[in-house]
This record gives sequence, C-alpha cells and structure tokens, in this order.
Amino acid sequence: MLVTGGCGFIGTNFIRYLLEESDFEGRVVNVDKLTYAGNPENLADLESGFGDRYVFVKADICDRDAVGRVYREYEIDTVCHFAAESHVDRSIVRPEDFIQTNIVGTFNLLEAARDREGRLELFHHISTDEVFGSLAEAGLFTEKTPYNPSSPYSASKAASDHLVRAYHRTYGLPVTISNCSNNYGPYQFPEKLVPLMILNALEEKPLPVYGDGRNVRDWLYVLDHCRAIWTIMKEGKRGETYNVGGRGEIENIRLVEMICDILDSMEESPGKRPRRELITFVKDRPGHDFRYAMDFSKLERDLGWRPTETLGSGIRKTIEWYLENRQWVERVRSGEYRSWIREHYGA
Ligand code: NAD
Ligand code: TYD
Repeated sequence: MLVTGGCGFIGTNFIRYLLEESDFEGRVVNVDKLTYAGNPENLADLESGFGDRYVFVKADICDRDAVGRVYREYEIDTVCHFAAESHVDRSIVRPEDFIQTNIVGTFNLLEAARDREGRLELFHHISTDEVFGSLAEAGLFTEKTPYNPSSPYSASKAASDHLVRAYHRTYGLPVTISNCSNNYGPYQFPEKLVPLMILNALEEKPLPVYGDGRNVRDWLYVLDHCRAIWTIMKEGKRGETYNVGGRGEIENIRLVEMICDILDSMEESPGKRPRRELITFVKDRPGHDFRYAMDFSKLERDLGWRPTETLGSGIRKTIEWYLENRQWVERVRSGEYRSWIREHYGA
C-alpha cells in the first residue's frame, strides 16, 4: 500500500494504526516530501519494528517520475492519499504550494495509478468537509451537499476530489473518497487550534481566538478517523464518497475554555491564574467559514462505523499526549528534527 503524506499528523496515526492495530498484512510504502509538517521521527521505530513491512521514500508527489518509480518498484496495488498542504491560514498567505501539491500532486498519483493498467485495486482519497463551504446555525453536510469552498485550501481540495471522481467515471479507476471534519489528537503540528491552545496554555502565552469565537467545528478524534478510513478502504463501495464526523460540534471559544479547564484540573498554572484569563480575541480570518457539521449516517448505516471518543475524552487524551511528549514538541517547534532528516535522508 502506498501511503502519501505519512509523516504528517493523520498519516502518522494511520500508518501506526495499520501496522500495530489493524488486520492489514501487507507492506506500507510511505511517500512524503517532508515539508515543515512532515516529521519522519514519528515513525522511525517502525523501520526496525516491522522490517520490510514499512518503507519510507522521501519524494514529492509533484515529481511524476518519482511517483511512477514507486508504483512500479513496490508493485503498488492500493493507495491511501493524505499528502497535502493542510493549513487554511497558510493558504491565505501563500496559495501556490496548495495548488501544486493538492491538485497537481493528486493528478500525478492518479495518472500513475492509471498506468498500472488494471493492477490497482483501490485509490482512497482523503478529503475534508471544508469543500462544502459554510453552514448556518442549523443543518449538516451530507455526501450530496454541493461543493462551495471558501479558502484556497478548500478550493484545492475540492479540485482534487473532482479529479478523483472523474478518474473513476472516465477510466474506471477503483476509488473511494472520505470527507472528514476537523481532526485532533497526537502528533498534530502545533499551528492548528487544539495543539496551539494546549501548548500556549501550558506556557502561559495568549490564546488567540479569531473573531468572536462563535465559529463551530465538528471535532473528530484522529484514531476514530483512522478506523473509519480502514473500514471504507476494506468495505466501501468503489466510486462512493463517505462523510466522517465526530459528533463533536462546539464553538471555538467553548473548546478553548474546555482545554483551559482540563489543564487547570491536571496541573496548576505557574502563575496560579485560571488559564481562561489567557484567552485573547484577535482579528478574524478572512473568509472564515462559520460552521461545519457532518451527517455521517451513510458510513454508520452501510459500514457500521461510529466514533468511540467523545469530545471530552478525546481532548483529555490529547492533552495527556502533549504533556507526555514535550520532547517531540520541542524538536518540532525548534526545527531540530530537520537536522535528523538531513542525517538520515540527505537535504
Ligand atoms: P499535515 O499537514 O499534518 O501533513 C501533510 C503531510 O504531507 C506532511 O507529512 C507533508 O510533508 C506531506 N506533504 C506535503 N506536500 C507534499 C508533497 N508535495 N509530496 C509528498 N508529501 C507532501 O496534514 P494532516 O492534518 O495530516 O492532513 C492529512 C490529509 O487529511 C490532508 O489531505 C488534509 O487535507 C486532510 N484533512 C485533514 C484534516 C485535519 O483536521 N487535519 C481534516 C480534514 C481533512
Ligand atoms: P484550524 O485548526 O486552523 O482548522 P480549520 O481552519 O481547518 O477549521 O482552526 C479551527 C478553528 O479555530 C477555525 O474556526 C479557526 C479557529 N482558530 C482560532 O480561533 N485561533 C487560532 O489560532 C487558530 C489556528 C484557529
């Protein structure tokens, strides 16, 4: 199985889940360019622990030759495609990389899959609820909601979804697509809301909440997401899309308060102040979608998946992971893991 972007947040959790917990018996070939968001240290122990069942290849999915070589050399029959530029705020400042990786990179992977001439059993594409745009106070996104993306990030993901579907309809490529809501959990790069708030709160730094903090996201614990992906890959109908949600809707401000309160209950802040006092409202994100919420009844009804974590239990586990893995945080934030990459994989 080719897994792209396996050194990122969800990819890391997925590869660990596949090899350590699931019934997958094959080999994982992890192709990752190692951008700022990719940290191969996350999976370094698998190289010794799983022998040749885990292989890492440092490559850019925009490099058509490199992608073709991987498909041929490892006789890839299944693809799980995570690699992407994933942060909305970065896409607003510098959209170019999003167009290249998310659209052109996906196109290259699809072309290489087509070159396999019938030997590809499945191309699974990981997408987002953000392709559907923004909801008002009520309603849920279903698989039939029309695409209406707001940011360069979500527009690039929408384009890649359309390409994947087109390759199914035009060339008969066996594909499945999952559109999931906001993930949180171990190994998330501390630019996204949950880890940023946990770490800032621990260090008594301001907690920047965009606008009035009333925007709503539907939070999904990353390991529940990994189980959903594997379920869809094994049992999902080819050509179909599945929504994945966490039944974890909450306003940003309430989530940040929840993180503060759980941290306070675990350890008193050095300044002995409630961490909620660190919350600072800042200028809103341009084009900020108001609300996302997923109807995942298709996945529940047809494939029997449902999330196991509640928002409270998942956030607590996540906080515990960040408390126990301060060294990971330090190496990611200082960029120290990049010298490890140079040592192991060259530039
Ligand atoms: P991430 O930013 O943590 O990781 C992305 C990984 O892709 C990194 O390891 C990076 O090095 C790699 N990568 C980037 N450009 C590459 C390229 N050109 N070639 C090869 N590798 C490249 O992202 P994530 O949060 O793990 O998200 C994974 C996927 O899930 C993405 O497709 C994203 O759109 C989707 N998604 C994420 C969320 C979320 O909440 N994190 C929600 C919905 C959908
Ligand atoms: P984020 O984690 O960037 O995910 P996404 O934009 O893909 O939903 O942001 C989640 C929500 O939190 C979103 O409504 C923006 C908001 N947010 C803040 O209020 N402050 C922050 O510092 C960040 C990073 C996000």
